[in-house]
Amino acid sequence: MSSSFQAPKGVSEYVPPRSAAFLAARDAYARAVTRAGYGYIELPVFEDTQLFARGVGESTDVVTKEMYSLTDRGGRSLSLRPEFTAGVVRAVLEHGLHKGQLPVKLWTTGPAFRYERPQSGRYRQFYQVDLEAIGTEDPAVDAETIAVAFDWYRELGLTRQRLLLNSLGCRECRPAYRALLQEFLRGLPLDAATQARAEVNPLRVLDDKRPEVRALVADAPLMIDHLCAACKAHHDTVRERLADLAIEWVDEPRLVRGLDYYMRTAYEFEHPLLGAQSGIGGGGRYDGLSEDIGGPPLPGIGFGLGLDRTVLAMEAEGVAATAQRACDVYGVPLGEAAQRRVFTLVAELRRAGVAADMAYGGKGLKGAMKGADRSGARFALILGERDLAEGVAQVKELATGEQTAVPLDDIVTILKGKVR
Ligand code: HAM
Repeated sequence: MSSSFQAPKGVSEYVPPRSAAFLAARDAYARAVTRAGYGYIELPVFEDTQLFARGVGESTDVVTKEMYSLTDRGGRSLSLRPEFTAGVVRAVLEHGLHKGQLPVKLWTTGPAFRYERPQSGRYRQFYQVDLEAIGTEDPAVDAETIAVAFDWYRELGLTRQRLLLNSLGCRECRPAYRALLQEFLRGLPLDAATQARAEVNPLRVLDDKRPEVRALVADAPLMIDHLCAACKAHHDTVRERLADLAIEWVDEPRLVRGLDYYMRTAYEFEHPLLGAQSGIGGGGRYDGLSEDIGGPPLPGIGFGLGLDRTVLAMEAEGVAATAQRACDVYGVPLGEAAQRRVFTLVAELRRAGVAADMAYGGKGLKGAMKGADRSGARFALILGERDLAEGVAQVKELATGEQTAVPLDDIVTILKGKVR
């Protein structure tokens, strides 16, 4: 029987054996970004609500409908982070990191919170791995972020992800395009809610998934055809650098991100086996974000990749199991004196770098061997009273059943050699 409690609705949790893939993915991410020169940043899980309102944008669903906000006992309005980027830029400015060498390259990971309708792959507490390169407009860095994501996916064994790429223009060219698009949308028989959205954020109407809306906006003007010369040059260089790295992408002129800070490069990673929640990650440039939150002009680019959806993609592609680190050696003591000896042997094996575990609770041979099988160990280390008297232990290779007596003093060295 379970307890009277359940986890809050819509949170993602990881327990063994599934948690092994989650951890392996996160560890692999840390290696991939460290190789690419990104330093780690650990941020608070909650921030001033206004940081998200001004950073992520007052007109976004994330801010208007999905934030977990609270007033603390000191009367401050705080919100659980719905994403990382605003917090990273806040921390860069607060700690003056932008006064050193640029770009400031940072990564982080952890839970984020959005009050969304829960379903497979969409949670109210979910996990992201995040990366931000702050303080440069160099389009090569845009391509670098994408390359880092692809390296990570490849290391996890994923092959089916697709990159969708677009440019959203800048403060120079977007306002004119926005007016043009609004003009176009006003002439369409859209429902009242969509018409209202067209007034606040017309680009989002292009991203509407409903077929009837898609049909109506099929001939809408596209940002990509109205980029200023600087944005066009930037976008061309990003594409050129991606081609240099043999990274494939799909041009998606209707791609609009759900957060307001994006400018120029915007991209998403999609996985075809995940159904409705196919967006496994997304990112782009946010050259105006620093100013939006009261900082100096400071361009930036980065991404957030959904760790939960990445694990689902690993499972869908059948590469999650390889993430499991099995136990190498499992101790099977028979009797109290043997238990004491196996207990120290297991500790010595671990110190020697061998993954080792043992049967606890005074189990008999049958029960303990079942534990050995379940642990996934390659070897059982069986120690009975008679073995102990003779100064040996039985090392049994579980796959073949082959068993040899090994002197207790040599156990660690020999097993260490065998599991290499
Ligand atoms: P985002 O597209 O809102 O971007 O989220 C990035 C990824 O997080 C999504 O592609 C998805 O995989 C995952 N995700 C988002 N919401 C949920 C949810 N409710 N449940 C499960 N997974 C989810 C950002 O958050 C930006 N901060 C990314 C960024 C960083 N842009 C520049 N720098």
